[in-house]
Amino acid sequence: MTLYGVGLGPGDSDLVTVRGKEVLESADVVYSPGRLSRSVATEYVPDDRIGDLDFPMTRDDEKLRQAWKEAAQEVAPRARDGDVAFVTLGDPNVYSTFGHLRRTLDTFYPDIEREIVPGVSAVTAFATALGVEIAAGSSLALREAAGGAAPTGPDRMILFKVTDAPATHEGLTEAGYEVQYGRRLYMEHGETIVTEDPEEIAERDYYTLAYAEKPGVRETHATDEFAAEEFSPTATTDGGQIAAGEVAEIERSEGILAGDEPLAGETDE
Ligand SMILES: C[S@@+](CC[C@H](N)C(=O)[O-])C[C@H]1O[C@@H](n2cnc3c(N)ncnc32)[C@H](O)[C@@H]1O
Repeated sequence: MTLYGVGLGPGDSDLVTVRGKEVLESADVVYSPGRLSRSVATEYVPDDRIGDLDFPMTRDDEKLRQAWKEAAQEVAPRARDGDVAFVTLGDPNVYSTFGHLRRTLDTFYPDIEREIVPGVSAVTAFATALGVEIAAGSSLALREAAGGAAPTGPDRMILFKVTDAPATHEGLTEAGYEVQYGRRLYMEHGETIVTEDPEEIAERDYYTLAYAEKPGVRETHATDEFAAEEFSPTATTDGGQIAAGEVAEIERSEGILAGDEPLAGETDE
């Protein structure tokens, strides 16, 4: 049978994917590494199908290895007999505890079948929450900023683990970045905050990220031109005014609206 690594998304239970929900509903046992992931999973799984794993809060590598060996020892026989899920917030392959379980199984229980169900990661959810567009052609780096760290270099960065926002902010702004913060985005538990003011989120909360961008790095796009006056939907060549619906009609008849097909050489998303 199979061990499923299921990404639950950022925390709102309706952002669990349909596939994730189906796996949770059918798995014989569902393990979670923390309270928050457990509270999302229990929207779809009754308590009597939730399994217990003990993870010590430690940075001691030896203790962590021991804890993961014990976790694999618990999970592996259950995954031989039936279907088992291990849930994580976000995506199981992005900065996730699932990687520890997978590596431990690779070594000690290589026969266990696995399948990963991707989840909505904070890496993508932040963009909508913060109103940021990572447009085609942009580059975006992922960094950690725990304990007031302020890594610099890339034009655009997502910073995870922002636990001391004022200190991180000082470092980033000194290096010339514009910074926005997101706390508990799309999470049922706790208050969601989106702000540019680090003092508003000075209190430590692990579920905090930052988006830092160097001013002036925006790419130009063909459709930027629509902001120019000559493309204004209310402008006509003779200076008169026409309604938006009429514009669409005119553009269509002139072949300006390209339709839904990707251009040659492009793939559809
Ligand atoms: C260990 S990473 C886990 C990432 C997760 N696997 C994912 O794909 O989103 C944890 C960090 O991700 C960020 N994070 C995860 N979920 C978040 C959310 N809902 N709101 C804000 N930040 C979040 C925080 O910076 C947090 O410290």
